[in-house]
Amino acid sequence: MPRVSRLLSLADQNLLVLPSLLLCDFGNLEREIARLKTAGVQALHLDVMDGNFVPNLTYGLPIVSALRRLTDMPLDTHLMICRPERYVQAFVDAGADMVTVHAEATDKPQAVLEQIRDLGASAGLAFNPSTSLDVLKSCAKSCDLVLVMSVEAGFGGQAFDPSAVGRIREVRSIVGDKVVIEVDGGINEDTIDVCASAGAQWFVAGSAIFKQSDYGQALHGLTRLVTQH
Ligand code: DX5
Ligand code: ZN
Repeated sequence: MPRVSRLLSLADQNLLVLPSLLLCDFGNLEREIARLKTAGVQALHLDVMDGNFVPNLTYGLPIVSALRRLTDMPLDTHLMICRPERYVQAFVDAGADMVTVHAEATDKPQAVLEQIRDLGASAGLAFNPSTSLDVLKSCAKSCDLVLVMSVEAGFGGQAFDPSAVGRIREVRSIVGDKVVIEVDGGINEDTIDVCASAGAQWFVAGSAIFKQSDYGQALHGLTRLVTQH
């Protein structure tokens, strides 16, 4: 069974905190992955930015394939790139398990989602805070995951946008129970709880993990707050 499907099908692992590697030490990637594994992390969130769809430029295929060689943890790739349909095949080939594309970045979201599934990966659709969720009504059947951005995509370390809470509820009412809702941006011990109450299941955390010296303590602090739901 594919790595992400394994996670998606395990009810008791339904609530997951995923570290965003944006702030990790890329000079010591192997050590960082070992530290995350020891901390109890079950999947990695990778923020791919093209300097075009978003003003920031991060990393791409070589880092995804390097991570694939270093770990068998599921790789949740968040593509912040224009016209992602050009690259989904390459990201799946590099080892991505979940490929999430932005609704704002393509004029054919449903076709891209189906393309991702046809390649054997799980398909996610992301929405920036001010983007209408209308398109989701026609694409819901092609989504394994919906990513509700709680900051404008582009940079780590931004403040949580509370409007995400209502949007998580709105997404849940559109997609029903079978689709995972992930929330990303400004997630920390003060903001994670309200997202879990609204129905989010996967929580991406960058600063809240990588700015702490003990990743395990940071992860468990966040996980404890969401598993109370
Ligand atoms: C923002 C990215 C995030 C973000 C998380 O565009 O998708 O994954 O960097 O970092 P924090 O938790 O610091 O907001
Ligand atoms: Zn992200």
